[in-house]
Amino acid sequence: MKVSKRGAIAPFMAMDVMRAANEREAKGHSLVHMEVGQPSDPAPKKVIEAAKRALETHAIGYTEALGLGELRQRIAKFYGDHYGVTVDPAQVVVTTGSSSGFILAFAAAFDSGDRVAMACPGYPAYRHILSVLDIEVVPIPVGPETHWQVLAETLDALKTPIDGLIVANPGNPTGSMMTKSQLHDVAAWCENHDVRLISDEIYHGICFGEPAATAANRAEHAVVINSFSKYYGMTGWRIGWMIVPKDLARSVECLHQNLSICAPTLSQLAALSAFDCAQELDARVARYAANREILLTELPKAGFDRLAPSDGAFYLYADVSHLTEHSPDLCQDLLVNAGIAVTPGIDFDPVDGHRFIRFSFAASTDRIVEAVNRLKKWKKS
Ligand SMILES: Cc1ncc(COP(=O)(O)O)c(C=O)c1O
Repeated sequence: MKVSKRGAIAPFMAMDVMRAANEREAKGHSLVHMEVGQPSDPAPKKVIEAAKRALETHAIGYTEALGLGELRQRIAKFYGDHYGVTVDPAQVVVTTGSSSGFILAFAAAFDSGDRVAMACPGYPAYRHILSVLDIEVVPIPVGPETHWQVLAETLDALKTPIDGLIVANPGNPTGSMMTKSQLHDVAAWCENHDVRLISDEIYHGICFGEPAATAANRAEHAVVINSFSKYYGMTGWRIGWMIVPKDLARSVECLHQNLSICAPTLSQLAALSAFDCAQELDARVARYAANREILLTELPKAGFDRLAPSDGAFYLYADVSHLTEHSPDLCQDLLVNAGIAVTPGIDFDPVDGHRFIRFSFAASTDRIVEAVNRLKKWKKS
């Protein structure tokens, strides 16, 4: 029977490592999870209470494809309150996590054969979703010279034209950040060169220095993608949002009607309360900061001393070329012999990623301390 080539895409390795780690745990092995970017806490209390109330009071039917009007207004208000930027609720689309936002944005903005650039290392699903849609990925190698980000000058140096650019600020896997003016320059470059900017802002709120800047309202044609998964701690609720430019609004609506009908209604009703939980959520960010400090001090003692800057998100991207020639082997060694699940760099960078691994520090501080102790013991063995 025919099987489509479209489905023959690379795995999202962090998820494969999670499966392997879960299998080992099910067999009784003790593990510290540092493979997936997933806060260990449940959703904030007010969100859970809102979900319980919604179950009592609502039928939980479909919503409009664009999402609940009240939530779209609340998200638009957040842009005014948080960034001082005006967003029209009509531009807000509620999505099934940011993951479905990428599918909608790419399908609405690009045709087969179009060329879309992204930083390498970068979030693997961008590459894989683009390839499913027959859109050419243009990887832009980044490193310490540009603080692991694609900047306007990086774009000036491109040899071939592009139709789109994806940026993530803070980025995954490094957690590195662009400054506000760098992001604005990238947005202006894209507008001037007729390039559609997709700005992934999913790690906003988790920054260890300056807050992250938004591309919303900076470029007439940019798409902004965000999610309740990370700062709001709602990964499994599968809910996010996009700010879509006028020229894509109706296509995104029709695509969403046909691909998903709408984002999960219970999650939409619960997410209405997510913007009232700053105190609880900022305490978590303080914990991520503490976890990061512990790792920055202790990882070098275990041999992981070449770390990319982690300005935000909850990742440390470590150059392990002095420990291995093939990072998946090192990850397997750490899984089996140290009891720590981490993700190989080739998930984020098919070319140089064999020299890197990524630690996620979204777990509790107890677990991070446990991981450090295990790593030091592993180093000695
Ligand atoms: C940079 C980035 N964007 C998007 C996502 C997808 O998140 P979600 O679909 O849960 O919103 C992730 C998940 O790890 C990520 O790291």
